[in-house]
Amino acid sequence: MAKNSLSIIDNRTGKQYEIPIEEGGVIRASYLRNIKTGPDDFGLMSYDPAFTNTASCRSKITFIDGEKGILRYRGYPIEELAERSNYLEVAYLIVKGELPDRKHYLAWEHNIKIHTMVHENIKNFMQGFRYDAHPMGMLVGTIGALSTFYPDANNIHDLESRRLQTRRLIGKLPTIAAFAYRHALGFPYVYPDNDLSYTGNFLSMLFKMTELKYKPNPTLERALDVLFILHADHEQNCSANAMRAVGSSQVDPYSAVAAATAALYGPLHGGANEAVIRMLMEIGSPKNVPAFIKAVKNGERRLMGFGHRIYKSYDPRAKIVKRIAYEVFDVTGRNPLIDIALELERIALEDDYFVTRKLYPNVDFYTGVTYQAMGFPMTMFPVLFAIPRTSGWMAQWAEMVRDPEQKIARPRQVYTGENLRHWIPIDERPEPLMREDAVSDRI
Ligand code: CMC
Repeated sequence: MAKNSLSIIDNRTGKQYEIPIEEGGVIRASYLRNIKTGPDDFGLMSYDPAFTNTASCRSKITFIDGEKGILRYRGYPIEELAERSNYLEVAYLIVKGELPDRKHYLAWEHNIKIHTMVHENIKNFMQGFRYDAHPMGMLVGTIGALSTFYPDANNIHDLESRRLQTRRLIGKLPTIAAFAYRHALGFPYVYPDNDLSYTGNFLSMLFKMTELKYKPNPTLERALDVLFILHADHEQNCSANAMRAVGSSQVDPYSAVAAATAALYGPLHGGANEAVIRMLMEIGSPKNVPAFIKAVKNGERRLMGFGHRIYKSYDPRAKIVKRIAYEVFDVTGRNPLIDIALELERIALEDDYFVTRKLYPNVDFYTGVTYQAMGFPMTMFPVLFAIPRTSGWMAQWAEMVRDPEQKIARPRQVYTGENLRHWIPIDERPEPLMREDAVSDRI
């Protein structure tokens, strides 16, 4: 019997099966299909709602050790990248697998910057949104609309096409995001200024008014760049999974990125930082923190910005964001909500409820207060997440497209509905079928 294997005895039949254990701790769920009671039996399958213990792919992009609080892109620790690199270099690393040399970095920067403009019709398209449209909704719709401008993007098996769409998306996201921001204010959209850095140009498109040339504050420009590095990828999270699942139908990457952006919009994912600020504003003062914590422990509330599916220790990104927050406050002035956040963290980290459940601050806990100090409205927070995550989504998508083991994503289900029934004319249907409580769980 192979040492790296799992022996299973099916007590229904008495048969013994041997399942290989791969890569130090992985079994293929498809092996379970061999475990049957007879030829007509479908075989066993695993049930794993929300994929809490199922690997959906092999990936070389991002490594996380949630117990130890480790995050690495292509092997490089997030702390080193945040300290020494810049977002465009990290995007190159994530998409291409290696850090660029100077020549390749300059070519990459040029190739991204020549794609910062959008077609005028994209601008007109965005002007069609209502004055109070959520910028994340505008982003989802506009990224989806981009697919109609680049029909060549459906050549997903062509390497050059994939590279081109990747550069286009990384280049255009800040432009669309800034247009969405200015739309809400009723200000004219600002065209890209490619003399500036990736982040500096984004700040210019957001905040430029009548000056001929916008000069970004270097501290805020660097802070945003580091925040972009921290958000560039996070392995198989909800939006990366959406990117892969939708992309697995072989749709063009703009449609798949629109789907990933929609996944990011939710309050349990990229919308969490907005939810954190709303929570901090509602708490109102550090003295109200104990009462809020009590409500969380009673299950009445959720401490937004705390807890993570993977991290069971302090999210390494949250530590860096906390430092960045103070660098930003040195320029903008202190956001008073930070005092409530610090008190929440202090009390939560000492409280048995949070300690036993291993609930620690995640990346979103301190990003909101930082973005708010920089002048961003809350509705822009998930947009600031989507811009850098585009490089991660494109890398995840390209990895999926190239992986010969991947197919259209199509999970199984455990059917719990009715057995065979036959249609009955409407006037003959018995009363109970029409009762509200009988149908209430169906939508
Ligand atoms: N506040 C209070 N209790 C919590 C929290 C929280 N933020 N998070 C988890 N718990 C409790 C939960 O009630 C459960 O308790 P019990 O065992 O008594 O039922 C236990 O901890 C395990 O939680 P879970 O919901 O099974 O964990 P999950 O892995 O399904 O959820 C999460 C992960 C991030 C959705 C969740 O922690 C959460 O809702 N956090 C708040 C929202 C948030 O900050 N989201 C941003 C995530 S990081 C950025 C990103 O990935 O986009």
